[in-house]
This record gives sequence, structure tokens and C-alpha cells, in this order.
Amino acid sequence: MRDFWEQRYSEAGWAYGTEPNEFLRSQGRFIHAGQSALVIGDGEGRNGVWLAQQGMRVLSVDYSSAGLKKARALAAAKGARIETEHADLGSWNWPTNRFDLIVSIFVHFAPVLRRHVHQSMVAALKDQGTIILEAFTPQQVKHTSGGPRDPVMLYSIDDLREDFSAARVELLEESEVHLEEGKYHRGTGAVVRVIIHKK
Ligand SMILES: C[S@@+](CC[C@H](N)C(=O)[O-])C[C@H]1O[C@@H](n2cnc3c(N)ncnc32)[C@H](O)[C@@H]1O
Repeated sequence: MRDFWEQRYSEAGWAYGTEPNEFLRSQGRFIHAGQSALVIGDGEGRNGVWLAQQGMRVLSVDYSSAGLKKARALAAAKGARIETEHADLGSWNWPTNRFDLIVSIFVHFAPVLRRHVHQSMVAALKDQGTIILEAFTPQQVKHTSGGPRDPVMLYSIDDLREDFSAARVELLEESEVHLEEGKYHRGTGAVVRVIIHKK
């Protein structure tokens, strides 16, 4: 899979655009200047850079070096600062009690890894910290707007409720949305949107 992302981010242009994800953008009440944010699977950096533009201290982690190179270029172009770390989230030495906000936008893993990453996200939050996540659901196989084609990589509400059972769920909702994110997320998408707080 890593090769797939290297290849995609080596193409000219921006795979998912340079503007932040709409669901993330709508969650301003959790975005506070001076606080710390971890953005997992940040790819070309559209979400991490936008959070940095809001004044957050951002760490973007991804295993694609081509993606992170573009993320740093995007930050420089927008006059923002982000820290980047090149790591596989499956074997990353996850910090604990460190971030006010953790963001995961369309980052898909197979079930065992998904559970490990999601539980590690909760552990990496400070008390009262927040997770914002958007991902494709199994209904996405009906659509052509992007996302994994393999159903085991898609996330149901039940999967996520179980992964985040140690935290407090504020929002866990499936919906159909219109995506217009760069060249690879376009059209109707079946998504699950999640807001979680560390108890
Ligand atoms: C669909 S892209 C989304 C990129 C970005 N979140 C966005 O919305 O623009 C999924 C991203 O997850 C990253 N990723 C997938 N598996 C990973 C892993 N095990 N460790 C680190 N990054 C991973 C990929 O490199 C890719 O950048």
C-alpha cells in the first residue's frame, strides 16, 4: 500500500486538493490556537496545514515521504508551520497523553490495525481531548467518489463504537455527502463522521 501512496503523491497536482476537509472545517469549537494537534495519515497536508493556519501546533504523521514533502511545501506556500514525521502508524511509538486534538480523515486500515491505531489515538489524547474522524462506510462500494474498494477496509458505526469504547462518543453518524476534494474524492460518498472525547 505504501507504494500506492508514493505513486499517487508523485503525480503533479494535489490528490485531495489544498483545502481542508469540510467536516474538519466545520468543527471550529475544537480548534484552538496554541493547542496541539496530531494529524494521522495527513498525506499532502491539506488538513494539518489548515490547522496550523488556525494557530495550532501540528504534527503530521504519514508513511509516504512524497506526501510529506508536498505537505511541507504546502505549509511553506501558505506561510504556516507544521512538524512532519515519516512513520508507519502500525509500528509507530505512539505518545501518550500528549495532544489536545487528533484528526483522521479518510485513513483506512484492515481491522486489526484499525483497532490498534484507534485505541492508540485515544491513549495519545490529553484528558478531555478530542478526536475528529471521517471515513468511508461499507456503503461506499456503491459509489465511485474514492476510498478503498476492499470492504474490509471500510468502517461501520459498530466497528468504530467498539474501537473507541474507552472514550466518550459525542457524534457517530453515517451519512451521504457530496465530496469535492481534489481529483480523487469527487461525487456522492457514504461516510461516517465521528467526534470522540477522552473521558
Ligand atoms: C486517502 S489518503 C488521505 C490523506 C489525507 N488524510 C487527506 O484527507 O487529504 C490516506 C493516507 O493515509 C496514509 N496511510 C495509510 N496507511 C498508513 C500507515 N500504516 N501509516 C502511515 N500512514 C498511512 C497514506 O499514506 C495516505 O496519505
